[in-house]
Amino acid sequence: MKKSHRENTVGPWAAAKLDALEAYLEFYGTALSKQPFKRVYIDAFAGACVTKVRTSEVAEERIPILDIPSDTAQEQEQFVLGSPIRALNVSNGFHRHFFFDLDETRAETLRTVSAGRAGVTVTVGDCNPQIRALAPTLQNRQIRGIAFLDPYGAHLEWATLEALAKTGTMEVVINFPLAMAINRLITRSGDIPERWAQQLTACFGTEEWRTIAYDRVTDLFGDEIVQKHGDVPKRLLNLYISRLREIFNFVAKPRLIRNTRNAPLYYLIWAGPNKLGLKGADHILRQGEKV
Ligand SMILES: C[S@@+](CC[C@H](N)C(=O)[O-])C[C@H]1O[C@@H](n2cnc3c(N)ncnc32)[C@H](O)[C@@H]1O
Repeated sequence: MKKSHRENTVGPWAAAKLDALEAYLEFYGTALSKQPFKRVYIDAFAGACVTKVRTSEVAEERIPILDIPSDTAQEQEQFVLGSPIRALNVSNGFHRHFFFDLDETRAETLRTVSAGRAGVTVTVGDCNPQIRALAPTLQNRQIRGIAFLDPYGAHLEWATLEALAKTGTMEVVINFPLAMAINRLITRSGDIPERWAQQLTACFGTEEWRTIAYDRVTDLFGDEIVQKHGDVPKRLLNLYISRLREIFNFVAKPRLIRNTRNAPLYYLIWAGPNKLGLKGADHILRQGEKV
């Protein structure tokens, strides 16, 4: 685990992701508020609930972040509220919340912040098999819901997305950490540790990422060598989106989140079963985008 993950710190761009999610949850709740559906929220990689924004990066960025005054610190520390808290507090919110995290300490925080709230389930462990087990119960005409899928790396398995798509009732908002994590698993030499390769295959649901990422070319000496494509991120994004289109009726244009130096980090991708969600996602998730 990276130091920043252990210490619950994030770059200021995390607020852009979470503000977009929150705006979409508001839209969703309002759109369904007069409908009799039971609204379900899944947070597959629920996280620490509150994270500290790394201050060296704050100075460079002007995006809305919660200021929490500190008694002792000379400079004000800034914190950002995580996705579970935003989902719990959104107006016209959800009747049922399912929070998952691999980390027991984070699960404990999730239990604390949702204490006294009915219909909240916190589960510790790998969310993938758990969501696949949950999904058939969501295939119910009285249910509508959103799954926020926000891994650090290539930890969201394709089979999990398939199970959610099959419900016909669930939309997904995916953090696809392409530049931040996935592209880094694709080494220049093509020599990828087996564990990484398996993770990539589980994430894409296919081995196609290999042929997309690498070319076999002949060098000056006539030897065949493996070469990583220059535009691997774009190719992998296209693969992912085209595969999402096979399992969901609608997929919104991905929203690119960049860091303070304008380098691409990850994409927010909405996919779901109905057109109204698509319209909302296309409009809301793209607000504040730096192109
Ligand atoms: C990017 S953070 C989530 C941040 C959170 N969604 C937010 O924005 O407030 C990813 C979280 O996923 C958890 N995690 C990693 N792998 C997981 C897995 N396979 N299943 C469930 N949780 C996992 C980590 O412990 C971490 O808390």
